[in-house]
Amino acid sequence: MGILFRILLVCMVFGRLITKKANGPATEQTDEEDVYRLDEFYDSSRPAPIEVADNPKVTSRPILRPQIKGLMAEFLLNNDQLREYERRLIIDLRKGLNKQTHNSSIVKCFVTYIQDLPTGREKGTYLAVDLGGTNFRVLMVELGGPEKLHMTSMQFAVPQEKMLGTGDNLFTYLADCIAMFVEKYNLKNPNIVYSMGFTFSFPLSQKSLNKALIERWTKGFNCSDVVGQDVGMLLQKAIQRRGMKNIEIKVVINDTTGTLISAAWKNPACRIGLIIGTGTNACYVEKQKCAQLFDHKNRGSGEILINTEWGAFGDDGSLDFIRTRYDLELDAQTINPGRQVHEKMISGMYMGEIVRVLLVHAVKNGALFGGKGSHALFTRNMFLTKYVSQIEAQAAGNHAKCMQIFGELGLPHISEEDCLNVRYICQCVSSRAAYMVSAGICGLIRKMGEKNVAVGIDGSVYTYHPHVHRLMMEKIQELIMPGVQFQLMLSTDGSGRGAALAAAVAAKYEN
Ligand SMILES: *[C@@H]1O[C@H](CO)[C@@H](O)[C@H](O)[C@H]1NC(C)=O
Ligand SMILES: *[C@@H]1O[C@H](CO)[C@@H](O)[C@H](O)[C@H]1NC(C)=O
Ligand SMILES: *[C@@H]1O[C@H](CO)[C@@H](O)[C@H](O)[C@H]1NC(C)=O
Repeated sequence: MGILFRILLVCMVFGRLITKKANGPATEQTDEEDVYRLDEFYDSSRPAPIEVADNPKVTSRPILRPQIKGLMAEFLLNNDQLREYERRLIIDLRKGLNKQTHNSSIVKCFVTYIQDLPTGREKGTYLAVDLGGTNFRVLMVELGGPEKLHMTSMQFAVPQEKMLGTGDNLFTYLADCIAMFVEKYNLKNPNIVYSMGFTFSFPLSQKSLNKALIERWTKGFNCSDVVGQDVGMLLQKAIQRRGMKNIEIKVVINDTTGTLISAAWKNPACRIGLIIGTGTNACYVEKQKCAQLFDHKNRGSGEILINTEWGAFGDDGSLDFIRTRYDLELDAQTINPGRQVHEKMISGMYMGEIVRVLLVHAVKNGALFGGKGSHALFTRNMFLTKYVSQIEAQAAGNHAKCMQIFGELGLPHISEEDCLNVRYICQCVSSRAAYMVSAGICGLIRKMGEKNVAVGIDGSVYTYHPHVHRLMMEKIQELIMPGVQFQLMLSTDGSGRGAALAAAVAAKYEN
């Protein structure tokens, strides 16, 4: 469709909106305008009139049904609500940082002991290992100064019997994998000491840079005699037993911190690391004097990386003012009701399911699919988060993917208008997630008091959803304090690259 024609069409249909916007430059956005924005996006997906005329079977234009618009109204958070969300987040960050309130705080703000980020000028060869699921990765990162990074890696499956056996058995196996890597890449020269970073993506209680006690196993692991022990030391001992005396574990991190470290190597303005994937979490650079639980000596920067664990934000009711009955319905069906409230409104593990819950309500009210559902649609977790991305990625007026998805869900005969309304539901759910994360970023930037901040982001929702990045750029621009510059950058492989870079930074310290 020609750009001029498109503009004309938009002008015709949205004369009201355009006039409204033309009334004044970048004023406070109101609730109403948020609604218009989504409508604009949705309505521009309508087939051009000429397509309708070409097809005599189409008698009326597909419309957004009032019932669907009503159903989704609560999902359209306005900027006042987002600012209130930001205010409450900052209160909870302070609670987590403060000694007196940390134990009872919902947002934990764990101290990571990382005081410095990479500068980009690091040189040398560093190792990293990454255990976070059914695979174990060993990596070598060769750094040669600004933008010069070469990475080599090997991946090993972790067999079920190692995941459920003794801790000794598991760590010996990990050391065997490292030994294979060392053999293959010839890292045995005893005169060269290699610093290693260890990404261990299980709940940890960090005691120092390379000392971290595992609090409990998750993700299908359940090794005996490990909970409460220092995993850095367990791996170091196993490595030593295997005869590799030139490898030193310098730092234990998890994927969120790794995301920030990895992005900071590329961009020194990077001060926030964010995951919007299966789960959500954020870390940021705090002043040591504000982090009351930090009890080590200042190595010079006066700063410390804080792991917020913000997925739990709202577990004490502080997000009830924006939670909907559909969020509550979803929560009640999870294995941890009432917990990870923030995460359940945002992350990829739940996004598809929220949409499904809404679709079921819409069907039961007769607002979708002629009031008819299917077994699959009425089954939990059958509407995948990737469908949300796929439906929203469709070009204007194209509903083929949507029809295909619902065909596979046992609903082969839905109409274009159904698809258009489904798309609107998906948009409302994904934009709410993008807007909440945006307000969260603004909260972290305000807490830090920085004037120029880059944010390193990873995770499937950020990476694969077609509009989340753009929605975040727009919303942060609206919410942020005047004069603050920000950038959002994709930062992949925090758990690998990030861990090796963390080791490179830690290697600079002489104890
Ligand atoms: C917080 O919990 C820790 C460990 O249980 C305890 O040692 C500490 O005294 C508690 N702090 C406060 C302020 O209650
Ligand atoms: C991430 O690391 C921190 C310490 O740096 C730890 O307290 C936290 O439990 C970890 N979280 C996850 C999900 O691995
Ligand atoms: C983990 O193993 C212990 C025995 O070592 C057992 O008592 C416990 O029930 C297991 N937990 C899970 C979640 O399988």
